[in-house]
Formats: sequence, C-alpha cells, structure tokens
Amino acid sequence: MIKPNRLSNKNFLSTLDVSTDEVIHILELAKNFKNKKLNINLKNKVLGLIFDKSSTRTRVSFQVAMSRLGGTTIDLNPTTSQIGRGEPIKDTARVLSRYCDVIAVRTFKHSDLEEYTKWSTIPVINALTDLEHPCQALADFLTIQEKFLDFKNVVLTFIGDGNNVANSLILFGALLGIEVRIACPKGYEPNSLVVNKALEIYKNKNLLKISNDPTTAALGANVLYTDVWSSMGEENQKAEKDKIFNGFTIDNDLVNKADKDAIILHCLPAYRSKEITDEVFESKKNRIFDQAENRLHTQQALLSCLLH
Ligand code: CP
Repeated sequence: MIKPNRLSNKNFLSTLDVSTDEVIHILELAKNFKNKKLNINLKNKVLGLIFDKSSTRTRVSFQVAMSRLGGTTIDLNPTTSQIGRGEPIKDTARVLSRYCDVIAVRTFKHSDLEEYTKWSTIPVINALTDLEHPCQALADFLTIQEKFLDFKNVVLTFIGDGNNVANSLILFGALLGIEVRIACPKGYEPNSLVVNKALEIYKNKNLLKISNDPTTAALGANVLYTDVWSSMGEENQKAEKDKIFNGFTIDNDLVNKADKDAIILHCLPAYRSKEITDEVFESKKNRIFDQAENRLHTQQALLSCLLH
C-alpha cells in the first residue's frame, strides 16, 4: 500500500516547493484517500487556520481533511484573535508554533506568508496569496488526471485574469510538462517571474503560451478553466474589470472551439454571465464540483506528507 513520503521542503508556499515526483506522489495519495484505500492517523495533530480573507472551500476542506485524518483544526479568525489587532506576524508565528503542528494561511501579500514561514518552526501552507494558490492547483490537476488518466497531450487553457490561480497552473504545468495556454486582457498577464521560472522548468518551452486571444487559446483544448475577474480585495475595480474582460467569458461559442471531450473547470466561487455563462457552468462538460471535492483529498494527501 502507498505510504506518504516526507516532502523535500518543510513548507508548501509555492508550487516550486515540490518536485515533479512529489506532485505525482501527492496526486497518487489523494486518489487513494478518495477511494478510501488509505488510512493515515494524525491523532493529536493540530492545524491552525489563519484566514485574512473569506473562504468556503479552502477552510472547510482543510477542516474536514484534518478531521478525517484524526486530527483537529483551530480557526484563527483575525477578527476574534489578536492578528486583526495588528500583532506582528513574527510573534504570532512563534506562539502558534508552540501550540499547533502546521498552519495554513490565506492572506494578501505573499511576503506576509514568507514572514510566517521565517518565524515558524512548524510547516506553513499557502491557502492563497496574491501570488499563488498551490492547494487549488493540486485539486485541479487531480481532476484533470481523473478525466484524462495521464497528462500526456493534455492542453489546459485558462481564460481570465493572469492571477494567483493562473500562476500556480503555469508552474504545475511546467513541472508536469503539459501545454498551458493563458488568455487574458492586455495588462493582466501572469506574473513575469512566474513565467520565467516556468520557462526554466519546461523542457519544451513552446508548451507555455500567453496571449490576449481567447479563441485561439481555446482551439482544441482539453480543459477550459476560468476564475472570477475581480478577486477578493478588488471589489472597487469590479465595474472597470467587467468592461476590460468583456470577450473573455467562457460561453458555448468558446466551448465549441475546444476538443469535443473537453472539460470545464472553475475554482469557485463563480459569477455566472461574467467569466462563465450559466449554460456552460451547468453543462455536462463541467467537472467543477469534482474539482471542489478534490480539494479535500489533495489536502489530506498534503497534510499526510507534511505531518506523518
Ligand atoms: N477556490 C477557493 O479557494 O475557494 P474559497 O475561496 O471558497 O476557499
């Protein structure tokens, strides 16, 4: 029976914290958790959840994952802890390291997450920053693997803002050697450091394609993926971004350009009629709720590797 291996890095802040073999191992473990073939006991282990932003999937899937592993979670809501009052991260991190076995942090600046890591003696997990959403990407690639069985010849097209989700898809795509196409409006391209790092990793650099043309990006794609146009914290840009992103909606016309067996992914929450039409969202091609479920299984796998 497969057993969780220790990861080479203590933390999971970025896709770059894991190797190709480690990603494949986490996905394999996740499949075993999903099929109820794996039973790992993390009794007495405690996961601290620090969420500076709202969350449904990430928070609940971490809580359920830890519960299924026999451990517990503490929800460190900033408004009811001293975090919201401005206690320095370096103090919070050192204190929580005395109580918890691992912490997952959702915050705005990636540098704040790195500050937690600098002062923590326990593993730190990125539960989303402005730069990356690597836990989401683990679930995304498990969902892709479930449909296509392996990653050979898979074309993943992300249409929308070149944000944290796109950045993590690019880096995972580079690690797994799959073709990733990003189509976004001018000025909303993915982080250039992420793109350069991905190009260093890709053996075939032509597999990463960044454009401003959703139609070309969708041609023959196996996966069409989108995310909200305005992320948390960008509420004041909503009206402007709705105009800028006009033409980047995943609708039936775009789906018809993709491969006939293409699947639709969305990391949720979704704004129907903005980044995706209700028709496409509710279509048979959607694997959106498998993708959401897979957050649970991939995080069980990740926690097992970090704590077992
Ligand atoms: N996809 C995702 O991270 O969802 P939540 O914001 O609900 O956690």
